[in-house]
Amino acid sequence: MTTTSDSPTTQRRLGRAPDPAVLDPAERMDVDELRALQLERMRWTLRHAYDNVPHYRRAFDAAGVHPDDCRELADLARFPTTSKADLRDNYPFGMFAVPREQVRRVHASSGTTGRPVVVGYTERDLDTWATVMARSIRAAGGRPGDVLHNAYGYGLFTGGLGAHYGAERLGCTVVPVSGGMTPRQVQLITDFAPRVIMVTPTYMLALVDEFEAQGLDPRACSLEVGIFGAEPWTEQMRREMEERLDMDAVDIYGLSEVMGPGVAQECVETKDGLHVWEDHFYPEVIDPLTGEVLPEGEVGELVFTSLTKEAMPVVRYRTRDLTRLLPGTARPGMRRMEKVTGRTDDMIILRGVNLFPTQIEEVVLRTPGLAPHFTLVLSTRGRMDHLTVHVEARPDCPPSRREEAAREVATTVKQTVGVAVDVAVVDPETLPRSVGKLKRLVDQRKRTEA
Ligand code: DLL
Repeated sequence: MTTTSDSPTTQRRLGRAPDPAVLDPAERMDVDELRALQLERMRWTLRHAYDNVPHYRRAFDAAGVHPDDCRELADLARFPTTSKADLRDNYPFGMFAVPREQVRRVHASSGTTGRPVVVGYTERDLDTWATVMARSIRAAGGRPGDVLHNAYGYGLFTGGLGAHYGAERLGCTVVPVSGGMTPRQVQLITDFAPRVIMVTPTYMLALVDEFEAQGLDPRACSLEVGIFGAEPWTEQMRREMEERLDMDAVDIYGLSEVMGPGVAQECVETKDGLHVWEDHFYPEVIDPLTGEVLPEGEVGELVFTSLTKEAMPVVRYRTRDLTRLLPGTARPGMRRMEKVTGRTDDMIILRGVNLFPTQIEEVVLRTPGLAPHFTLVLSTRGRMDHLTVHVEARPDCPPSRREEAAREVATTVKQTVGVAVDVAVVDPETLPRSVGKLKRLVDQRKRTEA
């Protein structure tokens, strides 16, 4: 581990870059080389989708575009976007572009309502996925020979198996633990001494608490690299985890519809946002309201087109994730996406003000005496929506400090977000913990008939 200062007062912890000789050829491409490869692959994808998926044929025809109209990468903007509803409408296998017999595996994202979204992979798709996942783990600081504790859920969720095959591809010794049975996880980490852990950030917090509950010092454990994703987390959370675990915490992004984990990965030597593996996934950022493509640097909704997927190509898939694209750094040819701050569907509109749970996370973690465990409860008072932040006190927080901490959070939220919230500081160990993705928001609002 090395540290560099990003300002005179704060120290940022950065890790060691892999030897350039072990990078994939695509990670070493310059922008021009990559753009040429992308155009060729994009044209193949559009043709493959149009020829083999009735939904895409209908959608392209309705928009008056044909795969041959894609002569340069910017032409992609002329093609229609694809939404989760399109995938649901074609449940279960209607978006597949190859005969079902060629599909080696399916995954599904549960979603909160309605039918799940089903995704499929050919043998070659699974190979591509393992390649980009192995690349991600290496970029995060993992190395062949490392023991890797994989606490992402195994099953229909893409996290567990996606990470698993990538870790094996890189040459790690995988411990396929999945989520849950928290005391046993701590036991396995203690006994097997993994160097790398893959887990959601909120479940990592539950593991850290369990270490402490067992009287163990998490900083003394073998873990050196944490690869955290599947839900939004903030820079404040990174500092919290790096401090409490004495490790490098890096961000991994992905979604089932596009592949699973390993679409984009933060490099441990820069920790400055996630490099999109652009040889396989083409990113755009659009204005979520008008659909217009936004220039690099502007925040909007992230949209992906797969470039090599056989079983289920996606054309301009609207992720609902909000971020912006930035030029490459650690991998100069590949653009970065800034840490995802929220999803359009996680956005709370409170009396006309937009608010994301990550904004609350930032404030809570900056407030002395408060633990990183909080829940947001939306309720109705009179005709108004009201938000209460329930947040745990740290075990060492004196009772006299709780009210003051609550006031500080309320004041900072009012000043930075511009909306009044109630804050209740509760006892340690009283709020629900996640074993995977944490559901932060409890909506108790009374529904009024439209
Ligand atoms: O969560 C895939 C994954 C597994 C990614 C393990 C990383 C690690 P889905 O269940 O389809 O797939 O959910 C995808 O999760 O659209 C984002 O809203 C959110 N998400 C994933 N990674 C991040 C991240 C997996 N690093 C949805 N930061 C995405 C913020 C993330 N949100």
